[in-house]
Amino acid sequence: MARRKLVYEGKAKILYEGPEPGTYVQYFKDDATAFNAEKKAVIEGKGVLNNRLSEYFMNGLTQIGVPTHFIKRLNMREQLIRQVEIIPLEVIVRNFAAGSMAKRLGLAEGMALPRPIVEFSYKDDALGDPLVPEEYIAAFGWATQQEMDDIVSMALRVNDFMSGVMYGVGIKLIDFKIEIGRVWDNEFPRLVVADEISPDSCRLWDIETGKKLDKDVFRQDLGDLADAYTEVAKRLGVLPTNV
Ligand code: C5P
Repeated sequence: MARRKLVYEGKAKILYEGPEPGTYVQYFKDDATAFNAEKKAVIEGKGVLNNRLSEYFMNGLTQIGVPTHFIKRLNMREQLIRQVEIIPLEVIVRNFAAGSMAKRLGLAEGMALPRPIVEFSYKDDALGDPLVPEEYIAAFGWATQQEMDDIVSMALRVNDFMSGVMYGVGIKLIDFKIEIGRVWDNEFPRLVVADEISPDSCRLWDIETGKKLDKDVFRQDLGDLADAYTEVAKRLGVLPTNV
């Protein structure tokens, strides 16, 4: 790893300069954080599982025509990705009430929403990623109106895909977060799904038992996080061999 130039270190991942211009190597750490990094732990094997799971979801999205930053997995913890200009938003899609929405509106966790709801938070750790209306996004120029329309339709396509994949293995997709990046092809910006899609950024409940199989296991001290992610990987048939 020392031979590569570090570009950015986040809470769960590190970006290194990639072998070709316009690429990065994305390294998945074992670090788990919650509540804006107030709670921290190292969960052995989490990085390996998320690398594999994110590869699986990103490849599936590519297959149904949703562009992503993913190029290929390099090894147990690293994947090659396209360099993108990250739009500073967390794009959240909710199918059932949970987490901050349940709290904000006083809804019972697990209540089915009338339809999928897409919401946006401004990516800023110091501010705790505050929820922002589309009006702010347009006014501050974080994304154009056309981009916002495209982001909402991409987010809903990701939701349909992820809901279906999860339903197929007995898991309910409660909500998830994605990040969107711009890539510049021939001077024209194009949007792609970036960052990662993993149980770190989704809520996943077993359909039969309601058991949580996502980062809430860590947030709420419900058991072993690596066991939960291993269960997801096993059901999807992508369990890495030496976690
Ligand atoms: O906490 P909240 O209910 O707003 O989270 C909604 C979804 O977005 C959850 O699946 C959560 O894991 C994900 N999320 C995330 N990163 C954040 C905030 C939320 O992955 N910084």
